[in-house]
Amino acid sequence: MAHPTAPRYAPLSRALHWLTAIAVTVAFILGPGGFSRLMRQGVDPATRPGIVWHESLGLLVLALTLLRLLWVALRPGKPQFDMPAWMQALSRLVHGALWALLLALPATALLALGSEGRPLTLLGGVRVDQLPWIAGSRLGGLADWGDVHGLLGDVLMWLAGLHALAALFHHFVRRDGVLAAMLP
Ligand code: HEM
Ligand code: HEM
Repeated sequence: MAHPTAPRYAPLSRALHWLTAIAVTVAFILGPGGFSRLMRQGVDPATRPGIVWHESLGLLVLALTLLRLLWVALRPGKPQFDMPAWMQALSRLVHGALWALLLALPATALLALGSEGRPLTLLGGVRVDQLPWIAGSRLGGLADWGDVHGLLGDVLMWLAGLHALAALFHHFVRRDGVLAAMLP
């Protein structure tokens, strides 16, 4: 087992990690399937709690991720564990991919809404009808950003699942304190 004084992540790192994990998972479960069809039928997205919550939680994830990146740049360091070089490299790769996806999801969502001329509808009645700087950009027309967004959402959840399995492996097989370092 991990030594009782084993290094842990700072409370802020842990809080941001678990808030992010919860918000991502709930946003994914609410994932507005059939969004395009609803929009073609002329449904106002603001009347669909699933869409409003999905977009609000997704933007919360963006805010938490930007805050977390700032904190990662400023924090004194993170706990280090003894492990083989390949394991260090793999963990860096997976964490890097998770970070990239946490930023790519909101980005592709805004590209999708902007390029299709859909409103951004958030909790509390907040509504942004036009995202003109996206609608008018060349990037907006380069892909079906809604499809890309949905695909990246699936990739994020698969990767987070593998990441969680790795944490359990560290805890129960290697018993090296990695999971305990991140637990609330
Ligand atoms: C943690 C971040 C997010 C995850 C994991 C996620 C996941 C997903 C998934 C899996 C879908 C596809 C649903 C389906 O086809 O069944 C989807 C669709 C969608 N998401 Fe997100 N999303 C995230 C953030 C956001 C944000 C920040 C916004 C808006 C600002 C947003 C807006 C949308 C919209 C509008 C669709 C429908 C796209 C279309 O079909 O054209 N999402 N999301
Ligand atoms: C959507 C869900 C999740 C996302 C997006 C996510 C993302 C991340 C990211 C980006 C890091 C690196 C953090 C840093 O350097 O400060 C991290 C670390 C960590 N996560 Fe997650 N995570 C998720 C879910 C989980 C779950 C379910 C578990 C446990 C069962 C877990 C356990 C850990 C542990 C133990 C670390 C520290 C790893 C180390 O120091 O090598 N995560 N996570």
